[in-house]
Amino acid sequence: MSNHATKSIKSVIGFLASLLLLLTGVAGCGAFSQDSISGEAKPTNPRGASEQKPMTSDSALRKTVKLNSGYEMPMLGLGTWTLSNDVAEESAYFAIKNGYRLIDTARYYGNEIGVGRGVRRAIDEGIVSREEIFVTSKIMPGDYQRPDAAIDDSMARLGLGYIDLMLIHQPGRGDEEVYKALERGVRAGKIRSIGISNYYTSDDFERICRIAEIVPAVVQNENHIFYQNKELQEYLRQYGTVVESWYPLGGRGNTQEIFHNETIRKIAERHEKTPAQIVLRWHLQDGYIAIPGSGNQAHIVENIDIFDFALSEEEMQEICALNMRRRFENW
Ligand SMILES: NC(=O)c1ccc[n+]([C@@H]2O[C@H](COP(=O)([O-])OP(=O)(O)OC[C@H]3O[C@@H](n4cnc5c(N)ncnc54)[C@H](OP(=O)(O)O)[C@@H]3O)[C@@H](O)[C@H]2O)c1
Repeated sequence: MSNHATKSIKSVIGFLASLLLLLTGVAGCGAFSQDSISGEAKPTNPRGASEQKPMTSDSALRKTVKLNSGYEMPMLGLGTWTLSNDVAEESAYFAIKNGYRLIDTARYYGNEIGVGRGVRRAIDEGIVSREEIFVTSKIMPGDYQRPDAAIDDSMARLGLGYIDLMLIHQPGRGDEEVYKALERGVRAGKIRSIGISNYYTSDDFERICRIAEIVPAVVQNENHIFYQNKELQEYLRQYGTVVESWYPLGGRGNTQEIFHNETIRKIAERHEKTPAQIVLRWHLQDGYIAIPGSGNQAHIVENIDIFDFALSEEEMQEICALNMRRRFENW
């Protein structure tokens, strides 16, 4: 075959592949209409069952989703990866003071002590009660051979009486036993809801479900405008399991690419909001819980100031079309 013919075939294949990517990306769009987070979820996809309807609480700053465990989880929270104990303490306290009710930490981040201090300070000052705060932590692979002790250790470091949501940090040897330990934690009243993190396919999820007595309430995965795992979100709806986005802004070192994206910039200008606010609003309107990480107080305030506007269906579709199935990490 001539070089020219080979090139032509390659370019036709390339075109078809791009078309397929575009079509599958678009086909996964629009699980929820813009009303989703105002409490009147209208699944635009017929498979959209009601279990995952985000619920609304009275305060504009406290949008929550009802988990399959029966507990309400705020849809916007503070991520704390890379924050030291001191910065995590200040950031958690400052975030709560400014309306946040969800804080995400992990044994791996080494800042459960700081997060616990920040939350307890807010409780001691009467800003919130323990019941109003939702704290997530995770068991890291180094602890997969001692998961029951790892739960107790996290509880001791946080010092909050119980953990609202505990996740397996990532798949790994012994993770099914870790999940059983999480279930024991629920029965013992140490943990309220349990879930998994970094399980990207229905097969990954089903492997845990097969041994589970308690269906995972949350799957926390990398998820952002360039990697929209709509298939998993739709699959999980039958279980009432919610997807939580880590790297909602792309993650440290990648945010500028997202903030300078032409589509995001145009929508931001139209709403007189920042690109970060547009992206976060998109996560929530699409039914994802988002936990933007920040140790910067101006950013923390900015990131929760997203409840006074809504993206239109067209804008949601435009952002959906940015999906490239491109992850920034590989764990
Ligand atoms: N389960 C897992 O495997 C896993 C993995 C990674 C992360 N996580 C969790 O998910 C959370 C979110 O991920 P992430 O923190 O890595 O990434 P991210 O939230 O996507 O991005 C954080 C970056 O965005 C910046 N930023 C935040 N708000 C901003 C704003 N309004 N304007 C401009 N820049 C802004 C932060 O800088 P400043 O500090 O300067 O604001 C930081 O550089 C983590 O903190 C962690 O809790 C979980």
